Order: sequence, then C-alpha cells, then structure tokens
Amino acid sequence: MKLPKTILTSTKCVHSGTQIDENQGGVNTPIHTSTAFKYLEDYEMKYPRMANTSNQIAVVDKINALENAEKGLVFSSGLGAIAAALLGLLKPGDHLIVQSDIYGGTAHFMHHRLERTGVDISFVDMQNARNLKEALTTSTKLIYVETPSNPLMKLTDLSMVAAFAKKHSLISFTDNTFATPIFQQPLNLGIDLVMHSGTKYFSGHSDIMFGYLGGNSGLMDLIKVAQVDLGATLDARLCYEIERSMKTLHLRVERAAENALKLASWLELNDNVEKVYYPGLPSHPQFELAKQQMQGGFGAMMSFRLKGAIDPIKFQKALQIICPAVSLGGVESLIGSPYLTSHKSISQAERDGMGISNQDVRFSVGIEAVEDLKNDLKQAFEA
Ligand SMILES: Cc1ncc(COP(=O)(O)O)c(C=O)c1O
Repeated sequence: MKLPKTILTSTKCVHSGTQIDENQGGVNTPIHTSTAFKYLEDYEMKYPRMANTSNQIAVVDKINALENAEKGLVFSSGLGAIAAALLGLLKPGDHLIVQSDIYGGTAHFMHHRLERTGVDISFVDMQNARNLKEALTTSTKLIYVETPSNPLMKLTDLSMVAAFAKKHSLISFTDNTFATPIFQQPLNLGIDLVMHSGTKYFSGHSDIMFGYLGGNSGLMDLIKVAQVDLGATLDARLCYEIERSMKTLHLRVERAAENALKLASWLELNDNVEKVYYPGLPSHPQFELAKQQMQGGFGAMMSFRLKGAIDPIKFQKALQIICPAVSLGGVESLIGSPYLTSHKSISQAERDGMGISNQDVRFSVGIEAVEDLKNDLKQAFEA
C-alpha cells in the first residue's frame, strides 16, 4: 500500500510495511513459507538467509519507517544483530569505544568473542564527553552506545556522540531497545546505526526472540554480507507474528511509560527505597537531557535500590502480580536482580565498577492497572 509521506508514528506502527494480500484482498501480509524460490525468468535470487523474502521485508519496512532508516535487517536475536554489525564492520587492529555500562550479554560478546578477533576495545563513561576524546586512537572505527543504559538508566547524549563520530570519521551505533522508536529516534539525531533487541518491546508479549538493525545503505550493505555468513536470520511465520505485535507497539509502550512515571515518583517517596533510577524523574541527574532526547515519554524501564534492611530476593518472592523473571518489555510487569540476571555473565568487580549493587532491582513496568502494581509493591515491602 502506498502511504502518505507525512504519516505519524502510531499510523506507521499499524500500516508501514504491511503488504495487502493482492490475491484475496486480505488486509494482513500473507505468510509465504517457501525457502526455495524460482530463479529463472528474471526472478531475483531469494532465500530466507539472505533476508529478502516478503515477510522479512514487511517487518524491516515497518521498523525502518519508525526509525527513519534507509535500510534495515532482522535477525534471530538482538545479540545476533550486534554480532553481525560488529563482525561485519570491524577487522583485526580496529579500535572500538564502548559505553561502560551496557547490557551484560553485549559486554560478554565484546570481551569473549570480539576481542579474540583482534579488535581493541575501550570501555568509557560517556556521560563525560572528555572521556571520548581521551579514548580516541588512530585506529578507532566505531562508538557503541546504549541509552538509557541497563540497568542504571544512565543517558548518553546522542547528538554529542553523533557530532564527535562525524568529526573523527567514526561510525556511531546505538542500542535503542529500552527507549523504543516511540520515545527516541537515534538516526534523527545523527547516529549512523540503530539496533533493537526486538525480543523486548517490539515483540511485547514475552514470546518471540528477534533483533533489528537499521541505518544508511552503505553500512547496512556491509552488515548484510556478515548476516548472510553468520546465518542469524528469521523465519516467515515468526515475521508475521512480529508484524502483528508491532501494530500495537505505540499503545503498549505509551501506557507502560505512563505507569512507570507514576510508580517511579511513588517509589522515590517510599521509606524502603534508597534510590530510584528513572530518566523521567526531575531528580535524575540527566533529566534535562532526557527531556531533550526522548520525545513524549521516558520509557517503561527503571531500577531502584532497596534499603539494606530489605532482602531483595525475599522482596521479589513476596510479589503477587509483578513477576521475578529475566527479560523485559512485555505487557506484564517483570522484576529482577541484575547481579543474578542481565549482568550475571560479568564479574562482581565489573559490576562494582559499573555501580551496580546487589540491592538494585530492575523493573520492567507493564500495562496493568497502576494501582494494582502499587498495591503489589506495597504488600511485598510489608512482607
Ligand atoms: C539492552 C539490550 N540489548 C541487547 C540485548 C540482547 O538481545 P537478545 O536477548 O534479543 O539477543 C538485550 C537482552 O536482554 C538487552 O536488554
């Protein structure tokens, strides 16, 4: 369907990418399950691992429209997207500057896989632009950012990183999983590549794993070669389910973010809580940057530090609605201790360096009635 160029985000979620079934007039993209396609008579060579079949394209086109990306690719996981991008763009001897507080699984990939290929990595605190300058070498090729960060919700100034990267001819990369394109569009701020663990808000129901990467044609063409080599792509049936989930992305994340802001403000006044990490709170040290960089909401992820007298495990076990579980971004509220979940794969010393305490709990706020979530937290504090 040819859509007007001026459509807004919620319309893009519903309509962009979706292919009307021309055979029968159905309003949903038909599922084409073939893995073998005719190639004579001017057919393009199609094969699912080459990410060029219709259901893959429907998902890519929808997310490209939301992120304003020239080209995109879908992968079988978020880490599959990160791996293809970094292995596709970097070679032995290249240097990578990485934000110090990133998702533990990404840090693990960098330490245990990427460094083995001969890529040098500097982890730096990007809240201070001076650190970027100090880390720069003549071999630096790429800057890797995740904002808001996991789990302490620190922000990196994307316009600053984009300008620095352009000045020094580097590629800038942002993991936009926590914010979603509903609240933050890195490419519009000058970043070169945007990535999502689609397993989170895009899938939205804690039942599909996938990844997305988008950016300009030149970079995406290089990454596509790596994707075809690595093979981390997606099946047509799953693409159909992803496309369906994404039609309600805006509704889900807007409601979850409204809940998160209310709960963060309430938790901040709670006697059992030492500190709340949420970019939508005026007490967040980067609240001004959050208002500038994030549009229409601050996302639905937060963390809070329980006071020493409260055992985080007992607290989580006492919850009746909010489920202690790994992952995030579903319609249901999930909670977890980063030292046992997202950051388990890195050492205690690394966690200490990142400022993550065992008293911290990461909270993925869902779309339930906010009063029910508040009452659940209240009864667990009392328990
Ligand atoms: C911020 C962030 N980036 C990347 C990933 C990796 O994505 P996936 O688990 O889909 O491979 C995760 C997973 O939790 C994440 O939280």
